[in-house]
Amino acid sequence: QLVKVFVTRRIPQDGMKILRQAGMCNLSVWDSDEPVPRAELLKGVTGAHGLVCLLSDRIDTEVLDAAGPNLKVISTMSVGFDHLAMDEIKKRGIRVGYTPDVLTDATAELTVALLLATARRLPEGVQEVKSGGWSTWKPLWLCGYGLSGSTVGVLGLGRIGLAIARRLMPFGVKRLLYTGRGAKPEAKEVEGEFVPLDTLVSESDFVIVSCSLTPDTQGLCDKAFFSKMKSSAVFINTSRGTVVNQEDLYEALSSGRIAAAGLDVTTPEPLPTNHPLLTLNNCVILPHIGSATYATRGTMAELTANNLLAGLTGVAMPTELKI
Ligand code: GLV
Ligand code: GLV
Repeated sequence: QLVKVFVTRRIPQDGMKILRQAGMCNLSVWDSDEPVPRAELLKGVTGAHGLVCLLSDRIDTEVLDAAGPNLKVISTMSVGFDHLAMDEIKKRGIRVGYTPDVLTDATAELTVALLLATARRLPEGVQEVKSGGWSTWKPLWLCGYGLSGSTVGVLGLGRIGLAIARRLMPFGVKRLLYTGRGAKPEAKEVEGEFVPLDTLVSESDFVIVSCSLTPDTQGLCDKAFFSKMKSSAVFINTSRGTVVNQEDLYEALSSGRIAAAGLDVTTPEPLPTNHPLLTLNNCVILPHIGSATYATRGTMAELTANNLLAGLTGVAMPTELKI
């Protein structure tokens, strides 16, 4: 007897192939690149045993109620899980799969790219070339900040934070500071110094947010936070938008309180095109593409499918979320 599985989006074929070939799923797919409308999500999950979802789907009590008691497994194609109502999910005995590790390298690479693009003002430079603003070589034009000899602070030295630190050290970083719930033995590899948040914020030339979104980190980067940063410091966030108070960030950037910011995540997503942050030259915003390489997205889809199938058959998932 087939089990009902709802997939909330068109995902890479690598994943769909695994789901189809398992032969145990009655698959129903929101076959679009656009998010499933809420009403369609509620309809789609009705009676489902398994749910494949993305970080843009809010899986809350309403969705779980709509699904009903059949729902045994949720497999999200993401490493983040702040879109899942975990307390409620656990209470119902539903197992959850997610995709750590496989996107660590791609996300760390993107973070380095965003940091360099922001610190060396690449988008502004490209724009000047296109618009005819490039009149000649000028000693004081489009100057930014370099990593060599700098102090880098990483908020959250988890899998991705450590991978970022590992990539930055060869640029000649002098000190690598990090903060989080506690000191980590693996920080040795990057000569990381565990310091209080205030120390990290005030001493770093580059502040990189790489923590997960929790009640502790929500709104962590606010007016008080930015007021402690060096005026020459660059702020980078590739975790979740709501770790940052965007009004406070706007104020810090527009007043010159800090030098620049590079964001791969915002609140909301997408960011409206008339958002004040988009008027600033010293703010580089990307559309949440940390894990967006062809290979990584394919591997994420495979892992998502394998997690789901393991959950449906009642065996250990390759990567089960246990919190
Ligand atoms: C990306 O943000 C993810 O959670 O996978
Ligand atoms: C830069 O191109 C230089 O020659 O200094």
